[in-house]
Amino acid sequence: MTHVIDGKALAVKLQGELAEKTARLKAETGQVPGLVVILVGENPASQVYVRNKERSALAAGFRSEVVRVPESISQEDLLALIDCYNQDPLWHGILVQLPLPAHIDDEAVLLAIDPNKDVDGFHPLNMGHLWAGNPVMVPSTPAGIMEMFREYDIDVEGKNAVVIGRSNIVGKPMAQLLLAKNATVTLTHSRTHHLAKIARKADILVVAIGRAKFVTADFVKEGAVVIDVGMNRDENGKLCGDVDYEQVAPLASYITPVPGGVGPMTITMLMSQTYEAAVRALKK
Ligand code: GUN
Repeated sequence: MTHVIDGKALAVKLQGELAEKTARLKAETGQVPGLVVILVGENPASQVYVRNKERSALAAGFRSEVVRVPESISQEDLLALIDCYNQDPLWHGILVQLPLPAHIDDEAVLLAIDPNKDVDGFHPLNMGHLWAGNPVMVPSTPAGIMEMFREYDIDVEGKNAVVIGRSNIVGKPMAQLLLAKNATVTLTHSRTHHLAKIARKADILVVAIGRAKFVTADFVKEGAVVIDVGMNRDENGKLCGDVDYEQVAPLASYITPVPGGVGPMTITMLMSQTYEAAVRALKK
């Protein structure tokens, strides 16, 4: 029997718990978690993501600010802006929405964010902590997937986990988090030979390759847990994942739908990391 993992419901539950924890933190310590999101330019998808982040931060009871700067901003000015928020103790999380315009060096921007405020977990220091097995700030999408495994009692220990996609945002940190929970991990990508054959060995298959309905039935072993990180449009313009849901769902023991699976968890985990950063800041 196939269980559909309801990311939306889990996100709503966790957001509610977070709002309660935030109210308690405020009452007991006066500390209010603060999240600032910097949006460069007017990328339509980024504008939607940023609005959702702001909404979620306010719903959790956080201090929230969105700084919209023009596409033409110089790298120097952007780095100076980030530094203002680095220095300001009111803000515990700083996020620069990606992608950035071509004239700005992503790496320089990610390096400029105080690692203690890097709620995206993209700073090389935080990536290094994760690789070393001591995660502090973890990218939200894979963190949300681990939370789904916890909620649905999916034990990854000793299992064959195959991750398709090697981005810094999803694939690489996903592989590390699975490894930290003692899964046997294979990290694959678009150039991997015999990808379907490797994927068929997976007890847990996480797909983040960014191609609509890329994973078909021949990639999936009967009873596998299938996690779909994709967000694409199909030939009819309908939202779909990287997994061909109709083909794959009957084979899977657990599967995430698109929409309503991984997506809603990502923002919730970002809020959770901002809360944790605010608590850590109190202890300094
Ligand atoms: N653009 C797409 N996803 C993300 C994300 O998780 N963080 C940031 N900063 N930008 C993104």
